[in-house]
Amino acid sequence: MKKIVQPIGCILLGAPGSGKGTQAKIISNLFRIPHVSTGDALRSEIAKKSQLGLKVSKVLAAGELVSDELVDAIVASRLAQSDAASGYILDGYPRNIAQANELGRILSSLNYPVPAAVYIELPENELLRRILGRLSCSKCGSIFHQVFNAPKTSMICDNCGTALMQRKDDTEQTVKTRLSVYRQETAPLLSFYKQSGRLITVNGLQAISEITRNIETALRFER
Ligand code: AP5
Ligand code: MG
Repeated sequence: MKKIVQPIGCILLGAPGSGKGTQAKIISNLFRIPHVSTGDALRSEIAKKSQLGLKVSKVLAAGELVSDELVDAIVASRLAQSDAASGYILDGYPRNIAQANELGRILSSLNYPVPAAVYIELPENELLRRILGRLSCSKCGSIFHQVFNAPKTSMICDNCGTALMQRKDDTEQTVKTRLSVYRQETAPLLSFYKQSGRLITVNGLQAISEITRNIETALRFER
């Protein structure tokens, strides 16, 4: 194995609830690279009740995808910021082949290297247990689980003390739609990135720290 140098580019792939956000936050701190989450960016617009937020709030609540143009623009503008030149971790983008092609154009226009695509693999029955028990902090974005990753004080964020909440789209009905959208639109990205030889699959059934170790090793070393 050959050690790689910065910049580190990483796309996290996986179904809703597979642990992308959890891992992206840890890896972002570990490598000191920005965590670019289109889901977090959209939820922040909704919380601010901005024009964009009002436009997309029903789409997120229904578990459908927002338009490609909208998320392409969010990612292009975030990756163009100077801190992303030393690396970035993408969470929730790209979500379909058109977005993957657009990402390729964005990265080449910025002269960034081809990223590694890390797929967190998890069976569907586990996804549901993870999503239905998730607790999120609306202030700092920390992610917990009622059972698997419980906060030290019930319903309070360990990091900033804010009351934890359930995401609006974390209902059994919406999760069904999100999984079906994932199967149709996002799962084809696995073959897309496999063809480029940059797909790394990680077993999502492991403990959070073990998954982090797998991702870290994959990013530090070329295979
Ligand atoms: P987004 O926010 O991206 O949601 P998602 O892909 O559905 O994924 P989640 O955030 O639900 O899950 P996750 O994989 O991050 O898991 P987490 O780490 O939280 O998108 C939301 C919506 O925004 C979309 O539906 C769409 O409308 C819109 N959108 C976003 N991007 C878009 C795009 N590119 N194009 C168009 N529309 C877009 O973990 C889940 C739970 O499991 C937590 O409770 C956690 O504590 C727990 N957990 C994590 N790891 C482990 C472990 N190893 N063991 C036990 N528990 C664990
Ligand atoms: Mg997430």
